[in-house]
Amino acid sequence: MATRAALITGGSSGIGLAIARALGEDGYGITVSARRPDKLEGAAQELRGAGLEVQAVPANMSNEEEITTLVTGHRERFGRLDVLINNAGVGVGGAVADAETKKLDMQLDVNLRAVYLTARECIPMLKEAGAEHGKALMANTASIAGKYGQGWLAAYSATKFGVVGLTQALHKELASEGVQVTALCPGFVATAMTDWVEGVPKEQMIQPEDIAEGIRYLLRTSPACIVPELQFIRPADNM
Ligand SMILES: NC(=O)c1ccc[n+]([C@@H]2O[C@H](COP(=O)([O-])OP(=O)(O)OC[C@H]3O[C@@H](n4cnc5c(N)ncnc54)[C@H](OP(=O)(O)O)[C@@H]3O)[C@@H](O)[C@H]2O)c1
Repeated sequence: MATRAALITGGSSGIGLAIARALGEDGYGITVSARRPDKLEGAAQELRGAGLEVQAVPANMSNEEEITTLVTGHRERFGRLDVLINNAGVGVGGAVADAETKKLDMQLDVNLRAVYLTARECIPMLKEAGAEHGKALMANTASIAGKYGQGWLAAYSATKFGVVGLTQALHKELASEGVQVTALCPGFVATAMTDWVEGVPKEQMIQPEDIAEGIRYLLRTSPACIVPELQFIRPADNM
């Protein structure tokens, strides 16, 4: 069995799947989770086909009970957690003036509340790993929309600002216990989430593998070096 283990939410496609592949290739035992079981199992099969040690645990991150079942499932399979990637997320575009409450609630639940709850459930295992080797990692996928407010994505933007704030707060609580907590803040990434974007071809976007390389970087720095935030922007973003 793998000597280190990672749990990746939103691991069935895009950024999460790229991170799962990279960490699996680096020898981690992997739990991938996402909402739709068939799509998730397909992604897990693909990774297993490449020789990686992967279990798939479906969970709707807007449901607290499913979050606790997910973390328990990871613990039962691997017995440890060195890397948590809080990555599941949804974005619904539109003007605030026309917004439906249920869409606001869904984005708050999946993008922010679930990160808090999953972090809470995983902290004991992360602290154990931190005490062992001083370099446990929790990376929370925020967005560049969590650094600069985006019109017509107000709820999404607000949840991602929340993720950045939560990440800073968790860093203060956990840094002294060998647990690095980092916010990932990308601009447009070539995933299903940017299929709606017109005028920016996918090849001109950040690639999911770029984010995965960021995770590798965070893990390869020494325990004395904490990187609280990674921003990924395109040349055209001009931030
Ligand atoms: N693509 C970008 O430009 C970009 C930029 C900045 C930040 N991000 C963030 O990156 C993260 C990953 O997105 P992506 O770009 O890789 O898009 P993606 O390929 O659509 O991946 C989204 C993942 O989240 C899962 N998910 C969505 N709702 C869920 C729920 N209620 N419960 C559990 N899992 C759920 C999806 O599973 P199902 O398909 O089964 O729902 C999927 O695995 C998100 O947090 C997103 O906000 C993306």
